Amino acid sequence: MCGIIGVVQKRGDVAPFIHQALKRLEYRGYDSVGVTTIEKHKLYIKKDQGKVEEVHRKLDLDEMPGSIGIGHTRWATHGAPSMLNSHPHFDCKNEIAVVHNGVIENFMELRKELSAKGHKFRSETDTEIIPHLLEDYMKDGMDLVEAVKEVTKRIEGTYAIVVMSTKEEENKIVCTRDGNPLVIGRKENVSYVSSDIPAFLPMTNDMILLLDGEIACLTSDEVRIESLSDGSEIKRDSIEISWTADQAQKSGYPHFMLKEIHEQPDAIRNTLRLKEDIIKQAAKIIHSSDRVFMLAMGTSGHSALAGRHMFASIAGVLPTFELASDFSDTVYGSLTDRDCIIAITQSGETTDTITAVKYAKERGVKIVAISNVVGSSITRLADHTILTQAGPEIGVAATKTFMVQLTSLALIALALGELTGFTDLKSIETKRKCLERIPEIVSETISRNEELSRRLAGELYDKTSLLFLGRGVSIATAEEAALKLKEIAYNHAEAYSAGESKHGPIALVEDGFPVIFVAPNDKTRSRMIGNIMEMKARGASVVSVILKDDTELESLSKFVFTIPEDIEPEFSTMVFIVPLQLFSYYMALRKGYDPDMPRNLAKSVTVL
Ligand code: G6P
Repeated sequence: MCGIIGVVQKRGDVAPFIHQALKRLEYRGYDSVGVTTIEKHKLYIKKDQGKVEEVHRKLDLDEMPGSIGIGHTRWATHGAPSMLNSHPHFDCKNEIAVVHNGVIENFMELRKELSAKGHKFRSETDTEIIPHLLEDYMKDGMDLVEAVKEVTKRIEGTYAIVVMSTKEEENKIVCTRDGNPLVIGRKENVSYVSSDIPAFLPMTNDMILLLDGEIACLTSDEVRIESLSDGSEIKRDSIEISWTADQAQKSGYPHFMLKEIHEQPDAIRNTLRLKEDIIKQAAKIIHSSDRVFMLAMGTSGHSALAGRHMFASIAGVLPTFELASDFSDTVYGSLTDRDCIIAITQSGETTDTITAVKYAKERGVKIVAISNVVGSSITRLADHTILTQAGPEIGVAATKTFMVQLTSLALIALALGELTGFTDLKSIETKRKCLERIPEIVSETISRNEELSRRLAGELYDKTSLLFLGRGVSIATAEEAALKLKEIAYNHAEAYSAGESKHGPIALVEDGFPVIFVAPNDKTRSRMIGNIMEMKARGASVVSVILKDDTELESLSKFVFTIPEDIEPEFSTMVFIVPLQLFSYYMALRKGYDPDMPRNLAKSVTVL
């Protein structure tokens, strides 16, 4: 949600690098773009509404002088996407430039106060109060670092801010954060700051975290981090990131989403290699808790839904799933230090999830996090973290990070099963063996269904509404399939329990209405047949995802996707979702949409 980059180097122009970094950050927001550089104490500004390459074609983002610059790719919150609302934002004299990710909640009163002092505002954004506040503080000679410190005392909300000024003698970038991420990179004679690691990954794999309550000053020679509360210097070691720049490239695929679907077998394999101790520790925390909650948003919420089934059937533990956004409004202060939360968030930065976790932590609740991003906010709040191994996911619609979340939950369920004794050890071993086979099964599922999913998209692309039905764990699969389709192909898609479908959704069904059944060979199968018959009797056009050679279900369906081999029922989401991910990808393509950058969405949502 808004991507930020700042670069300061000894010599040479930074603009071409900023342009490329913004492309790598574009998954965070893509409704407008802006770059500002400084050369000889003068600001150069290029910004406009549109995606990075659209704006580049119009304005040439590479042609800007200066060895210091900041850039921003926006996901609008305050003010519609437009040239004036795009970042960077400036003070009255165009001497101070600011990019911001987050929301300044008290911007209205500050704007009123600043306007009364004569400051002229050009945008509708909350961000613009920051350069004007800085201007006010700096007019009597205060330097940029001190002025930013003063600003942090005035603003409320969540933010990651990167600023620079023409008035400083030496080129420097100052940044600070509260609630939204910033990471810093260093290479000989260059310093980088960004919302996320991929931005500077081609230059360095070492990153330094900036934490809430800290301020950093970057020059081409060094980075100095200070505590905002007492000004003391903070020395922090860098963390080496195992991700490679290549992983953040399309590598011959037309879209990141398709590449990431194809990367799923490896992502699962790498996550299965997580150290046993890490999984066991998570299981121990859960085992020793009275109540277990799973909290997440979006696709991660669907991992939680599937994860509940794994925990219940393997370990006899049934966690309560809650949307993180509604958690504090649902638990009514009933939390105690005997409770535990499993917080699932691939980015580790989703504000809904972070806020819920902070709320619970204050009440003594233990936190187990499942995240794909090293050093992310959730990992610093959690008592214990499982770091999934998907590598960078750039496509906005989550695919491989979903798969590794499911893998981690499966591993925890097996370890928890050993602790509770709910399932005998022999069956646990059989399930573990099955889990180890899933990368192969996913691989083959992709091969046998990719062309079919393209074909089905050709048949269904103009349907305004689709229903996805499942039972038991397959409700999670159906939910995720419907979300994928909504997110990237903009079809209205709804997921329902097949059992519940006759209590309402069936009224929608008329001749040719597409109903997609997720029907693995588990104990729900015979009841699913009943539901398929009900839908068929009303003219539904039935598509099913089934096990290969399930001729009975095949004969009831107009179109089938098949899964090459039977798997343990709790893990079926990991395989049955695959054809439906491909289906939504090809639906988006058939309708002429960019699946990597769906409208109105962002990969990491850092507002409440
Ligand atoms: C956004 C993304 C979704 C994602 C959700 C939760 O809505 O578009 O793809 O599932 O946030 O993200 P998280 O990083 O917490 O898993």
